[in-house]
Amino acid sequence: MKEDALRNEPEKKSHFFIVIAVTAALEGILFGYDTGVISGAILFIKKEFNFSAQMNGFVVSSVLIGAFFGAIFSGRLSDHLGRKRLLIIDAVLFGVGSIISALDPEVWTLIGARVLVGIAIGISSYVAPLYISEISPKKYWGALVSLNQLAIVTGIFLSYLIDYFFALHDQWRWMLAVGVIPALFLFIGMLFLPYSLLWIASKGERQKALSILKKIRGKGVKVEREMAQIEKSMLHQKGIWKTLFSSPIRKSLLIGMGLTIIQQVTGINTIIYYAPTIFEMAGFQTSHVAILATMGIGGVNLLFTVIALPLIDLWGRKPLLFIGLIGMCLGLLGLAYTFHYHHQSTTSQWISMAGMILYIACFAASLGPIAWLLIAEVYPLKVRELGCSVTTGTNWAANWLVTFTFLTLVQFLGASFTFFLYFLIGIVSIFFIYFIVPETTGVSLEDIEENLMAGKSPRHLGRK
Ligand code: BGC
Repeated sequence: MKEDALRNEPEKKSHFFIVIAVTAALEGILFGYDTGVISGAILFIKKEFNFSAQMNGFVVSSVLIGAFFGAIFSGRLSDHLGRKRLLIIDAVLFGVGSIISALDPEVWTLIGARVLVGIAIGISSYVAPLYISEISPKKYWGALVSLNQLAIVTGIFLSYLIDYFFALHDQWRWMLAVGVIPALFLFIGMLFLPYSLLWIASKGERQKALSILKKIRGKGVKVEREMAQIEKSMLHQKGIWKTLFSSPIRKSLLIGMGLTIIQQVTGINTIIYYAPTIFEMAGFQTSHVAILATMGIGGVNLLFTVIALPLIDLWGRKPLLFIGLIGMCLGLLGLAYTFHYHHQSTTSQWISMAGMILYIACFAASLGPIAWLLIAEVYPLKVRELGCSVTTGTNWAANWLVTFTFLTLVQFLGASFTFFLYFLIGIVSIFFIYFIVPETTGVSLEDIEENLMAGKSPRHLGRK
């Protein structure tokens, strides 16, 4: 990613910056909407098609298979087609996938449509942040990474609202179809955004890049210096696989991979995709009530993301990660306890609700935004693109593993033991954060890279 295109230019915001931020938000909303929506829809789908636990898990996780492939191939595609064109195609994939889901499909067509939507999610999860970082001033970059997480949780919350509305009419197909609306806005928005500066410059079109830069930064801002820095950063761009595994860069890989895997294997998406199913297991009588309770979960997720974002720089990444993980572990312990000792009683409903709220609030304030932020910070410039692409792909693969196996684990080991398992993983994760993850608050990307190259241990990469 272009990282050192920094400027000492007069402070002027062009209207383009707002368009960029809104389009970025649409990408995140689609990511959140299209992953969260299945939670309510699956209650109806499993009844209509009479699914086993394995088939249920497969349908819910099919979107993640697409997302994995979308993420790992999007690096190549975005170099070839350009970020802008790829994101326009991406909006079409989102739209087509959503429409096919609404056309009264058979089960395999439905799975195919969900894989298609998944490919679109995977592409946007990698290309959208890349594109945004390449056309926005560096000082907004961290804020835009956080904006992305805020947009994801907003998308999840909207999907729960829509699920509730259509659940009242027993129409799961419409839940999936509504995804076409943000896709349409994204398509239109992308038509008006410029090509990525780095990409267009890398194709040898310096003049075009320069005129785009002038347009983005607004009238009267001198952009020659920034242009020179973009060209300089182009020289660093092409990281190769061997470099990623070489010393000392594999320390960044260890931190990035560790965080991305922890974010998933502590079970977040068992709640995001299966909350209504868990509420039914806990004894909530109808699908509508279970989806209504899920809306509460979505609201808490959104609320605590908003609360946490300013705290990330104020309190630091590691303190928030510790508090968050401890709270998540307590929530998981509560769920394990209630499924062991209370069977489908009012008590189990309340304890499961409280456990899930504690868990989701703590995730939203810690691993949700901070994992993505740290991942974007720890790779040195020359392998940042490759590192982020591999890490994003791994995030989807780990997500798939947890989502696909959740119901089968519940069937064979019981809900209590399954949540206890995530609890144990949470405890191990606390040690990983303590011993391996650096505190990077207030430290520049250049300093982190310098520490890495000087051979400091992963934990000490954030020293000034
Ligand atoms: C994770 C997603 C998760 C979402 C929940 C994101 O940071 O990557 O897997 O569904 O947070 O809010």
